Amino acid sequence: MQSLPPGYRALVIGASGAIGAAMLQQLQADPRCSQVLALGRSSTPPIDFAEEASIAAAAEYVRSQADFAPLHLLVVATGMLHSPSAGPEKRLSQLNYAHLMASFTTNTFGPALVLAHFAPLLAPQERSLCAVLSAKVGSIGDNRLGGWYSYRASKAALNMLIKTAAIELARTHPKTVLAALHPGTVDSPLSAPFRGAEIGRPAVAAAADLLGVLDSLGAEDSGSFCAYDGQRLPW
Ligand SMILES: NC(=O)c1ccc[n+]([C@@H]2O[C@H](COP(=O)([O-])OP(=O)(O)OC[C@H]3O[C@@H](n4cnc5c(N)ncnc54)[C@H](OP(=O)(O)O)[C@@H]3O)[C@@H](O)[C@H]2O)c1
Repeated sequence: MQSLPPGYRALVIGASGAIGAAMLQQLQADPRCSQVLALGRSSTPPIDFAEEASIAAAAEYVRSQADFAPLHLLVVATGMLHSPSAGPEKRLSQLNYAHLMASFTTNTFGPALVLAHFAPLLAPQERSLCAVLSAKVGSIGDNRLGGWYSYRASKAALNMLIKTAAIELARTHPKTVLAALHPGTVDSPLSAPFRGAEIGRPAVAAAADLLGVLDSLGAEDSGSFCAYDGQRLPW
């Protein structure tokens, strides 16, 4: 990441996922990165978005480690489209609280609480970057096909939270860039039931593109919704 200070510190949340793992690997290979920490449901400490207190506890852990704070790069690579019991809804008649709640907990509430607890750990006076993986199907303006109610709505709400947080962060962290990123269709467990292996790109390619886009964004781009190729997406 050429735009970050030499010796920058990074944190990837959701590093067990396909895209998160690829981003983690690329950051570990970057000689300019002095520390990279990976957190997720299986890490120590764990972050599980179904357990609100785990988010604050993980942030407290990072704050207490002299090696990891302040952060220059925060990536939130978590997300869910389907669970063992339910997939994305094709029709209104398929909507239920359980799937809506699970989608919003993982795709919206968890990342929002990550921003609440981890944004204060971003370097306040140096350039820093914060990317939350969203999805183009969360674009209200681009919704032509319908369906996937919970996933679309949870990502649209995530986008609003990111935009709102970017406005607040610009006051306390004027050099920080916070962006919602769309990785494109990627071969991963999330996309697997939807022909992800056939139509998706390898996670390694998506990760490289996403880090490249992030590296290219200026402070004036904070609060934007960008695709892996740098294209600005409509809200
Ligand atoms: N793949 C695509 O085609 C595609 C397209 C558009 C957008 N995206 C977005 O890109 C992001 C990454 O997707 P991916 O394809 O890499 O998916 P993935 O391989 O299925 O990874 C999902 C990640 O989310 C974590 N996670 C799920 N529920 C969680 C919870 N309750 N608390 C904490 N972590 C949780 C998983 O942790 P565990 O390992 O513990 O389950 C895993 O690390 C998501 O936001 C997704 O919406 C992906």
